[in-house]
Amino acid sequence: NKPVNIGIVGLGTVGGGALHLLRANAAELSRRTGRDIVVSHIGVRREHPNLDLAGITVSMDIFAVVDDPAVDIVVEVIGGITVARELVLRAIANGKHVVTANKWLLAEHGNEIFTAAEAKGVHVGFEASVAGGVPIIKVLREGLAANNIEWLAGIINGTGNYILTEMRDKGRSFTDALDEAKALGYAEADPTFDVEGIDAAHKLTIMASLAFGIPLQFSKVYTEGLSQLTRDDVIYAEELGFRIKQLGMARYTREGVELRVHPTLIPNDRLIAHVNGVKNAILVQSDAVGTTMYYGAGAGAGPTASAVVADIVDLVRLLTSESAPNVPHLAFMPHAITNTPI
Ligand code: HSE
Repeated sequence: NKPVNIGIVGLGTVGGGALHLLRANAAELSRRTGRDIVVSHIGVRREHPNLDLAGITVSMDIFAVVDDPAVDIVVEVIGGITVARELVLRAIANGKHVVTANKWLLAEHGNEIFTAAEAKGVHVGFEASVAGGVPIIKVLREGLAANNIEWLAGIINGTGNYILTEMRDKGRSFTDALDEAKALGYAEADPTFDVEGIDAAHKLTIMASLAFGIPLQFSKVYTEGLSQLTRDDVIYAEELGFRIKQLGMARYTREGVELRVHPTLIPNDRLIAHVNGVKNAILVQSDAVGTTMYYGAGAGAGPTASAVVADIVDLVRLLTSESAPNVPHLAFMPHAITNTPI
């Protein structure tokens, strides 16, 4: 079998992490898929003198990657929604499979992107778009496929949870903890997305779409951020037996699916109250299996690369199997959405 060529667009925390992981685990990945997986082309918008890119074509024109006939799978990890949307749609138009970690892009333009992909018969992997290394997309789409999901709720922004944890455990100020989260590569390019609940709302939009069969409707999420919280709030909550956590929640009701993100007081005896630092956790309530919970690192190079490379592995297996079924990305049900907070 000939090697599968990967084109990566963007070499920041996630792109650099994916490149490293594909190289470090190359032998295992080849054994698991039956194909060698080679990063053949990288698109960047600035120089990366510290990375060893020997043997890889590097283009400053990032569209050169999606137009490269030798590239089989495009990994979009450039972020943002304007150029990224154009890039992903062009990759799809060129018949390439896509892997993206870009929750903002999917929350805003996912319906268009998935429709284009299905029309072209290509796949878009997006495991890395929600909860970093926690394979929650697979869980919702595959693991819980037999169930009706009643609700899901989770800590789905690592930066916000890191800030809350540092404020409580180390008495640090909000801004100090946020600066650290930026330095650790957890925060979004615009950290307002993290602290105002927007990033969590993007991820909730994606999870709700899979869980309830609804189109991606980011604008319908009720969103409240963390930026008004002080150290005193965190300390008083603790004294009263609670922890403050930023939760993203989606619940099926007869009136529609309720979507909301806001700081929440969680009783100290709940498992999710003890999810600290950059960790994410998602609780899912379903009719057959009951409550399940998924936990792990929600941001950072290694965890996010783990999800990106998992999608690449899936696609390589798909490319290699001759009878791959054409599974729709999202299967819509006629549910309405309500954004009325209870
Ligand atoms: N800024 C995001 C977070 C990155 O902190 O969760 C992972 O999606």
